[in-house]
Amino acid sequence: MLSWEELIVRCTNCKLCSLGNTRKNIVIGRGNQKAPLMLIGEGPGEQEDLQGLPFVGSAGKLLDLLLDALPIRKGDYYIANIVKCRPPGNRVPLEEEAEKCLPFLRNQVSLIRPKIIVCLGATAMKYIIDRNAKITQIRGQWVERKGFWIMPTFHPAALLRDESKKVLMWEDFKKVKQKLEELCQK
Ligand code: URA
Repeated sequence: MLSWEELIVRCTNCKLCSLGNTRKNIVIGRGNQKAPLMLIGEGPGEQEDLQGLPFVGSAGKLLDLLLDALPIRKGDYYIANIVKCRPPGNRVPLEEEAEKCLPFLRNQVSLIRPKIIVCLGATAMKYIIDRNAKITQIRGQWVERKGFWIMPTFHPAALLRDESKKVLMWEDFKKVKQKLEELCQK
């Protein structure tokens, strides 16, 4: 397992897939590196690529609103993505890109040791929970695996396209907050 310092150096120099040729900045993650909750999205968009931070564009703003409203405090979470470089045109990362990048994410999970992982959207769900599942079918249901409580829910960008998902995502995050309180009291 790499230390945070080693991980940052390896990611910054990474050319394991072709996304390394087009990125402006590597997007490793942000938040508390000892957080009980880890949120995982798909991959950086334009703003994330420019700033080198995850979820700082329009989907990120919506996610911040949701977390502030619950509330889930900034110190309680760390946020990252399945891939650390922006796929051109914001396309879904290819399997080979995700596979090359996942060991870095697993290393982050091992360093952070969160109690809860939230998969934001179908891509995170696919690589973390089940390659064949459908997000609309499994969202909102806890998966307990390897000592982690994993919650699949929608990607915040999906709410920008379909308002009706807001209530469902709110319900999912209420469960996350409740579990966080339960687990952190112990
Ligand atoms: N969408 C993602 O999945 N991740 C980001 O960091 C931004 C938008």
